[in-house]
Amino acid sequence: MDSNFMFILSLICILNFHFLETFANETQEESKLETYIVHVEAPETQIFTQSEDLKSFAARLSPDEVKEMEKKPGFVSALPEKVLPLHTTHSPNFLGLNQNMGFWRDSNYGKGVIIGVLDTGIFPDHPSFNDEGMPPPPAKWKGKCEFNVTSCNNKLIGARFFQRDNTPLDEDGHGTHTASTAAGNFVKGANLFGNANGTAVGMAPLAHLAIYKLFSRKLGPYNFSVAHEAPWILTVGASTIDRMIRATAVLGNNELFEGESAFQPMDFSSAFLPLVYAGMLNSSDLYAQYCFPESLNKTDVIRGKIVVCESGGIERIAKGQAVKDAGGTAMILVNSERYGNTIAAEAHVLPATQLSYADGLKVKAYINSTLNPVAKILFKGTLIGDDRAPVVAAFSSRGPNFASPGILKPDILGPGLNILAAWPVSWKTILKQNLHLTSYQVPQCLVLISAGLRLCSKARTPTGLQLPLSRQS
Ligand SMILES: *[C@@H]1O[C@H](CO)[C@@H](O)[C@H](O)[C@H]1NC(C)=O
Ligand SMILES: *[C@@H]1O[C@H](CO)[C@@H](O)[C@H](O)[C@H]1NC(C)=O
Ligand SMILES: *[C@@H]1O[C@H](CO)[C@@H](O)[C@H](O)[C@H]1NC(C)=O
Ligand SMILES: *[C@@H]1O[C@H](CO)[C@@H](O)[C@H](O)[C@H]1NC(C)=O
Ligand SMILES: *[C@@H]1O[C@H](CO)[C@@H](O)[C@H](O)[C@H]1NC(C)=O
Ligand SMILES: *[C@@H]1O[C@H](CO)[C@@H](O)[C@H](O)[C@H]1NC(C)=O
Ligand SMILES: *[C@@H]1O[C@H](CO)[C@@H](O)[C@H](O)[C@H]1NC(C)=O
Repeated sequence: MDSNFMFILSLICILNFHFLETFANETQEESKLETYIVHVEAPETQIFTQSEDLKSFAARLSPDEVKEMEKKPGFVSALPEKVLPLHTTHSPNFLGLNQNMGFWRDSNYGKGVIIGVLDTGIFPDHPSFNDEGMPPPPAKWKGKCEFNVTSCNNKLIGARFFQRDNTPLDEDGHGTHTASTAAGNFVKGANLFGNANGTAVGMAPLAHLAIYKLFSRKLGPYNFSVAHEAPWILTVGASTIDRMIRATAVLGNNELFEGESAFQPMDFSSAFLPLVYAGMLNSSDLYAQYCFPESLNKTDVIRGKIVVCESGGIERIAKGQAVKDAGGTAMILVNSERYGNTIAAEAHVLPATQLSYADGLKVKAYINSTLNPVAKILFKGTLIGDDRAPVVAAFSSRGPNFASPGILKPDILGPGLNILAAWPVSWKTILKQNLHLTSYQVPQCLVLISAGLRLCSKARTPTGLQLPLSRQS
């Protein structure tokens, strides 16, 4: 008999037994029990294909019962249910900030502060920049709004451009994303394909925003970076948070690797599929391993398969598009050594997961080790509780400080990877557009803690907003 079937039967036994037990001795036992969300493999036999909903269920269990359950074949995970606060989607919570007490409250949520954002401009119509509950700008404010007048309000008090394209409008997305992370107003029900759902809010929701469009990121990220070495400028490194949007790769040898993807297709088959490494498709094509569209679409080899792609060269989402266009079913994206353990939860166009460099090596070694490699990807949704966080992200700025080695830089670390924030267009729109132009970047944004800003504003020049408008150098 199918082992999964046995597993589900025995689980039902555990649950029934458990139910009787608690019924008899409810108050005593109740304190030891927690509600777990249990994921199991869906049975693969024909008879049980209808029972998709048996893949996960909620149960009140004791820690010992969970340990017993973990030994059963077909067990995937049992995670304690957590009540999540609704006031943010997650990063203030991760930082230990509470809305109505302590540091965050004492910072007045940035009230009276003007945050100057030097980036790719702003998409003013996004709900993060509505001015509900916002007081008028401070009397000292003398900035300009170079949008048509109606685009600025008490939240977005200024918008200027220093670019040839003659508008502060954000055509890239990065500036909008950064501004909303720093000072976006409350937006209920913010999510990406249903993941990371909650009320999104910037770190300083009562601060005003003054936008200075300096960059057009399409020209490349490096030589337009603002230098921040001066001691009176707060520089912030980027870290992970303890939220994961889990997509687990399982190999035919039962090795299991935890990755992430913001696209969580609940109808994706949990059966093993043939696995192929794109780097083995054509030894004379150096681009194949990176899943360039030109390299994949020449053959029919990847049709119906899970394709392992190396990061690099083109956007991660574009690699998924290339796999999909060439008939591939899913993608396992493996990090370069430089990117290490930094995993982006991306809005992929097909079932996919991104794995660390070390895990990627193991996947490739497995492919080498067998004639018929197979794998599957299991989607587990938004999980809170990665106890390694915060970890410095691969792309984060790091010391030492070249200009002034005696002064440590960056000053502080803030969540900067997989942060849900505003974007000029909806994902549905992006996915219909040319991905090379608009695909998602890891939000390499600074999170400006409002209290930190107040400290800095005391140390800063007294004339108000004298942000260094660095030249493009
Ligand atoms: C309830 O549980 C406690 C501790 O587990 C035990 O000492 C007690 O005898 C139980 N009571 C009944 C009615 O089963
Ligand atoms: C101002 O509004 C007009 C009409 O809607 C539009 O054509 C123009 O591009 C806008 N200018 C800016 C700078 O947004
Ligand atoms: C997001 O959370 C809100 C509040 O709990 C809920 O009403 C809404 O349905 C959720 N949306 C999604 C897409 O899960
Ligand atoms: C392999 O790659 C080379 C170099 O890009 C290309 O000329 C050749 O057509 C490719 N072969 C196949 C079978 O795709
Ligand atoms: C393969 O992709 C390239 C680049 O996207 C495209 O120019 C070409 O027409 C495609 N070929 C096939 C056979 O789909
Ligand atoms: C897999 O095999 C290829 C060719 O034999 C080799 O170059 C590569 O290093 C192997 N990869 C791993 C991860 O073992
Ligand atoms: C910045 O990069 C562009 C494009 O590569 C190049 O033309 C320009 O000279 C660079 N500017 C500086 C100051 O390095």
